[in-house]
Parts: sequence; C-alpha cells; structure tokens
Amino acid sequence: MKALAAELASAELEALVAPHGGVLRELYLPAAEAEALKRRSASLPQWTLNQRQLCDLELLLNGGFSPLQGFLGRADYDRVVSEMRLADGSLWPIPITLDVDEAFAAKLTENAQISLNDTQGTPLAVLTVEDVYFPDRIAEARQVFGTTDRTHPGVAELLDRTGSVYLGGRLQGIQPPAHYDFSSLRRSPRELRDWFHQHGWHRIVAFQTRNPMHRAHRELTLRAAEQVGAKLLIQPSVGRTKPGDVDHYTRVRCYRALLKHYPQDHATLSLLPLAMRMGGPREALWHAIIRKNYGASHFIVGRDHAGPGKDSQGKPFYDPYAAQHLLARHQAELGIEIVPFPAMVYAANRDVYVPQTEVQPEDEVRDISGTELRRRLQTGEAIPEWFTFPDVVKILRERHPAQQRQGFSLFFTGLSGSGKSTLAQAVLARLLETSSRPVTILDGDEVRRHLSKGLGFSREDRDANITRIGFVASEVVRHGGIVICAPIAPYASARTEARQLVEAHGRFVEIHVSTPLEICEARDRKGLYAAARAGKIKGFTGIDDPYETPVAPELRIDTSQVSVSEAADKVWEWLQTQALA
Ligand code: PPS
Repeated sequence: MKALAAELASAELEALVAPHGGVLRELYLPAAEAEALKRRSASLPQWTLNQRQLCDLELLLNGGFSPLQGFLGRADYDRVVSEMRLADGSLWPIPITLDVDEAFAAKLTENAQISLNDTQGTPLAVLTVEDVYFPDRIAEARQVFGTTDRTHPGVAELLDRTGSVYLGGRLQGIQPPAHYDFSSLRRSPRELRDWFHQHGWHRIVAFQTRNPMHRAHRELTLRAAEQVGAKLLIQPSVGRTKPGDVDHYTRVRCYRALLKHYPQDHATLSLLPLAMRMGGPREALWHAIIRKNYGASHFIVGRDHAGPGKDSQGKPFYDPYAAQHLLARHQAELGIEIVPFPAMVYAANRDVYVPQTEVQPEDEVRDISGTELRRRLQTGEAIPEWFTFPDVVKILRERHPAQQRQGFSLFFTGLSGSGKSTLAQAVLARLLETSSRPVTILDGDEVRRHLSKGLGFSREDRDANITRIGFVASEVVRHGGIVICAPIAPYASARTEARQLVEAHGRFVEIHVSTPLEICEARDRKGLYAAARAGKIKGFTGIDDPYETPVAPELRIDTSQVSVSEAADKVWEWLQTQALA
C-alpha cells in the first residue's frame, strides 16, 4: 500500500513542470556527512560571502539554479556570457560566479577546497575549486547587460565591486543560510513543489516583483491566472533588488495585506532570495528558469521586466518589450510558458482596470507613477482607493512618514572659531521651541570627548572622526530624529561619506560656515590660533593644515556678516522651504 501511495505521490509530483535540465539539483549533503564536512571546513581557507554571493549560494544549494551544481568554471562562463548557454548547450543567461581578490586566489592550490561562510563565520558550503580564472569584466558587462554604463546597477557592481578572479567548481552544501525574517514564507523549490502537490495545484503562474503591489498588480495577476487557467504564485525577490527600492520587510507586509484581497485559494506568497542584477531581457529569462525550478508552469513577463531604468544619457537601457520578445524566441526550449502582459491602467469612467492595449477612446485613464506615489507619501497627500488598498497604504505610510516627520541631519562645517557650535545651539533652540521632536547635537569638541576619544588630528584620524559622526547621524535619522553635527570636517571626501551614510535614511543638509580665517583667528576664542602660529600646535586647520571649501553646500553662512540670530533665521527659513520644519 505504502509503495503504491508513494508511486502515486511521485506520479502527481511529476505532474508539475520538470526542473530545468530535468532534475532538481539540491546540493546539500545528508546530515551526518554535512556535520563531518562542517568540522573539516574549519581547517580550510575561509571565504566570507558578500550579499550577492550569499543569495547565489542559497539558490545553488536549494536547486533554484538547477541544473547548476556550483559556481561556473571558465568553459561554462564563456558560453553563458557569449551565447546564454552552458558548455553542454543548456539555456542559462546569467553568469553565476564566485569572485574573489587576487591575494585570496594566490593562496589556493590545484583542486583546493574552500569554506564558504556567512558574515558570522558560519560555514554554509565547501567549494572544490576546479577553475581559477581572470574574467574580462568589460566584455561581460557588454554582453550580459548590453552596456558598460555604470548608471546600470548590475554594471556598476560588476566593474567596481567585483573581485578580479573567479573561482569555478562544485559545491557541497552544509546548511542553508539563516533567515530569521518571514521564515514561514521562504519555501525552497522542493518545499514549494510539495506544497503545490498537497494543495493539488498543477498549473501555476508565477509573478515576480521587487516593488510593493497595488490594485493594478492584483488585476494583472488575476487576469493572467484566469487567462491560462492557473493558480497564482506571487514570488517577490527579497535578496537584493535595485538600490533605492522599498525594503523587503515593508514590501512583504504589503504583499501579505494584498493577499487578503485575492479570491480564497487562488494565490499564494513565497519569497525568493534572489540577488537581482537588473539585467532586463536576460534577467527575465533567468527568472523564468528559476520559477520553473520552483514548480511554476507559467511565468508573467510584464512591461520592462527587471529593467534598470534610464542610462546616463537619459535613454532606457532596454526596450520595454525586449524581455517578452527574448522569452518568446526561447519558448520552445524553456519548458515554462510565458504569459506576456501589458501594463494595466485604470479607466475612471468605468471604474475598472484594463490592459493598456484595450483602452477605449472615451476612457479617462488614470495612473499614479512610482515617483508620484513617493511624492504623495512624502507630502502626506491622499492616495486614492482606486490605486491601492487602504491597508497597503497604512503600511507604506508607517515606513515612509510624511517629510515633516522624517529624520534629517544638519551638518555644519567650517574652520575652528567660525561659529559652527554657536549657530548649532541657536538652531537647536528654534527646533525645541517649535516642536517636541527629538534632536541630538554632535558638536566637534564634545564628540572628541566621547565618541572619538583618543583620536588626533592626522588626516586618518580626522576622517575616522567624521565617519563616526556620519554613522551616528545616520542612525539618528533612520529612527526619525534630527541630528545637528558641528565638526570642522576639513576633507570633502569624508563629508561626502557622511552624506552618503545619512542619505540612505533621510536628508543631509550641509551648511558651510564660511567665516574667513582672519576673523576666526582674530576671535581666537580658545587661544588655539595663537598657539598654532607660535608652532605649539602642529597641523592646525587653516594655519598649517588644509580646509577643503565645500563646493555645493545646501547653505553657506558667513557669521562675520550676520548676527547669530540672523544666521539661525536663514537656516530656519531654508528648512521651512524644504518642508523640514
Ligand atoms: S575634525 O577635523 O573635523 O576632526 O576636527 P574637530 O573634531 O571638529 O575638532 C574639534 C576641536 O578640536 C580643536 N583642535 C583642532 N582643530 C583643528 N586642528 C587641530 N590641529 C586642532 N587641535 C585641536 C578645535 O578647537 C576644534 O574645535 P572647534 O569647535 O572647531 O573650534
């Protein structure tokens, strides 16, 4: 009986679409062997995986990248780059490579084994290195992405943040990467196939996304499912998407809210730990293959699938329908059916969503672009119900409070004695007089007593000081607070770094306190200029150490020309024009 049941079960399993290459290549060792390898891995060369490599490894080990059995060696790599095929001829559009630096590669002997670890040092797999090679990354960018323009996030990563040596070889999996978030939604290909089987789902159309989903997406996915008579798998990429995208925690909360608006038992949600490359048509083909490995029989390809937007000349990197065309050309050998779909738009007069191609001349078409949505979230303006569901808006608003509630950083920079601290105190008073928002002051002297205790005034120490200030400021801003920084910050590169840290979470307002050196020196409030002139202090900013004048600060204020109160007014008025105060 048992044997018959197992046979029936496997027959039903087979009713699902076969993985790419025919077999689901799961690369984990059985428990006892994995344990033994884990112990042995401690004595091997250790490689800490970056986020992209970690995502790739997870999908290699769980079979999401079947038929790959490891990172690509030279022969596979060359053919994938030039022809979108592995050396054996199977279709595979994106090179999955393990890049390392030359120093690490130099340590490896032939057929060396290396331990691949997460950032905590946990060994996840062992790679037997069969190939060590220097890729031509410019050629790779040109062929895979069709461009070497660094505005393309995949190109920027490949050319600027990818090691110069690739290691190819087979993998033996020890354990999956740990995920503590949404673990019940992270099904592997095997688990998802089992789930489909248990629920009697055989025709499944998969939908890929990296954005929050709204009504248009719901209508599109429902229509696509209906059109092909399939159930729906919403499978967003949550590994790494395009820089600047809504974080996946927020997105997944939105997807869960949206799922409640689908007819019961028609749709399921599962998260894909994919590191996207934003590679347009090639990436779309890759997405389809991965979904096939997860058991989907159909795959929705929308307008500008996995497109990175516009290049440095303002032209779109890819034709919006190039992905659909490429997949159509490979339909026969793909083994997963492509469901091309035009963008859905709202016809207000009929109160319905329609594919753009079915719009009637009398239709009043409405749409809210991503940029417009961000603007409305920022200003707190209403987001209509025809566009998205109130429960989704609520989640987005919690994550992106209107600008008046967002954190920001005022970064005063200027010579010692220029009036930075005094101005910072005056602006602080304005903020505290008018609102009960939390404000932190990171003043030069005070920071050096605590956060930067022990640092001197060499370039390295000054840079470290500003990086620390930037880091703390970014944390304050991330938590919705206001932070006023007032260091000298003489080097432009360190100021830029602080800006980048803060701008990941909110506004960075650079205010150059441009009081001339003669005035600062005449004021000499601490007697330090006299000491510097007498040679008692070496490397004093403005005397025998540089101050790189900010080129384009948000504001420039010379405190020898205006009173403290007038200077504070200037800052205050500017904050109001920016809706920050
Ligand atoms: S930096 O360059 O941004 O790290 O400097 P910062 O931390 O803002 O400097 C804080 C105060 O240190 C005093 N001081 C010096 N300044 C410049 N150069 C040298 N060599 C130096 N030695 C001590 C100076 O008073 C700075 O405070 P402010 O408030 O700017 O006068």
